[in-house]
Amino acid sequence: MNVLLTGGAGYIGTHTAVELLQAGHEVVVVDSLVNSHEEALRRVERITGRTLTFHRADCTDPEAMRAVFDRHDIDAVIHLAGLKAVGESVQQPLRYYRNNLNALLTLCETMDAAGVRDLVLSSSATVYGDPDRMPITEDTRLSTTNPYGSSKLFSEQILDDLATSDPRWNIISLRYFNPIGAHASGLIGEDPQGVPNNLFPYIAQVASGRRERLSVFGDDYDTPDGTGVRDYLHVVDLANGHLAAVDHLADAPGHRVYNLGTGQGTSVMEGLRAFERATGSPIPYEVVGRRPGDIAVCYADPSAAARDLGWKAVLTIDDACRDGWRWQSANPGGFAG
Ligand code: NAD
Ligand code: WQD
Repeated sequence: MNVLLTGGAGYIGTHTAVELLQAGHEVVVVDSLVNSHEEALRRVERITGRTLTFHRADCTDPEAMRAVFDRHDIDAVIHLAGLKAVGESVQQPLRYYRNNLNALLTLCETMDAAGVRDLVLSSSATVYGDPDRMPITEDTRLSTTNPYGSSKLFSEQILDDLATSDPRWNIISLRYFNPIGAHASGLIGEDPQGVPNNLFPYIAQVASGRRERLSVFGDDYDTPDGTGVRDYLHVVDLANGHLAAVDHLADAPGHRVYNLGTGQGTSVMEGLRAFERATGSPIPYEVVGRRPGDIAVCYADPSAAARDLGWKAVLTIDDACRDGWRWQSANPGGFAG
């Protein structure tokens, strides 16, 4: 298959590109590089021994998108392009809505005109807001607490309406829980700009000596050790979830949604200890106040993806810490060096 990967130079995109190429698919990447480096794509080619096609373009640009569909006979699209920093989205809501929603609208219009109607979307567990029942099933009531999350919720609603309007569309939205880790080669991984917002990139930078200590955001939650609990899944498992979704797009027309998670909750302290096992050294931390907007617990019921897509997370948190540490220690300055 010829698969178009928007946002393919990013963290999840590069790992998905590797799995697609290794499965024998052709990959066309569209990325504006607003949050990534072209070097990451060269590394994908090094890992796989295959080449991919890269177009540096913005998905909000209709002419650039039309040119991509004119040049390539695309069979299916995996749409990962988007801005994803929750805090930044609160500061710059219009930029987030413009980028994330215009990219989706422009992409869908271009696909429709080209007669390509097989689409997989990156959604997020953030669309569940602060749910009161665990594990989270796909029919949980949706709500959001920030513009980034709302952009994902609106994206899903747009795809609902699109699929209702025209039964030729086959669409799957994947609601990712917390992706962590890196490819086992250590050649690609997460490369946050500035101070990391997320737990594992922060821990990795403390472990490598780039930051002094981890701030644990609260130890007074109603959880076994008082720290926040999340469903951390290895990014390679997540990447394989996209292949499973593409393979099952034609099973049913319309718009379907699936959780991609492990089904297991891990606390901040358990995550820290797992990373210490990977590095073999203690990682300094201090407990500080809760981070505004955080929820106590969030983990998936991933059984629908297992049933319909034949997908299950198989890698452990220790695998993710080992691979994340290999990436971090070999590339302390990320792709820019
Ligand atoms: P990332 O920032 O590493 O990758 C996103 C890529 O999209 C980047 O390479 C960026 O340059 C590109 N991009 C952004 N806007 C673009 C545009 N208008 N046109 C072309 N390219 C554009 O982030 P990621 O972690 O790989 O996330 C990929 C997708 O998964 C995003 O949609 C994100 O919201 C979603 N997601 C991520 C997480 C997570 O924790 N990483 C969780 C749930 C959902
Ligand atoms: C995990 C746990 C923190 C950093 C966010 C987005 C969500 C999704 C994934 C895209 C929490 C604690 C963190 C630190 C800490 N992205 N923590 N010290 O909050 O589940 O989700 O990223 O869709 O939309 O909201 O992930 O990694 O930020 O935090 O103690 O320096 O680690 O309080 O309990 P989160 P996270």
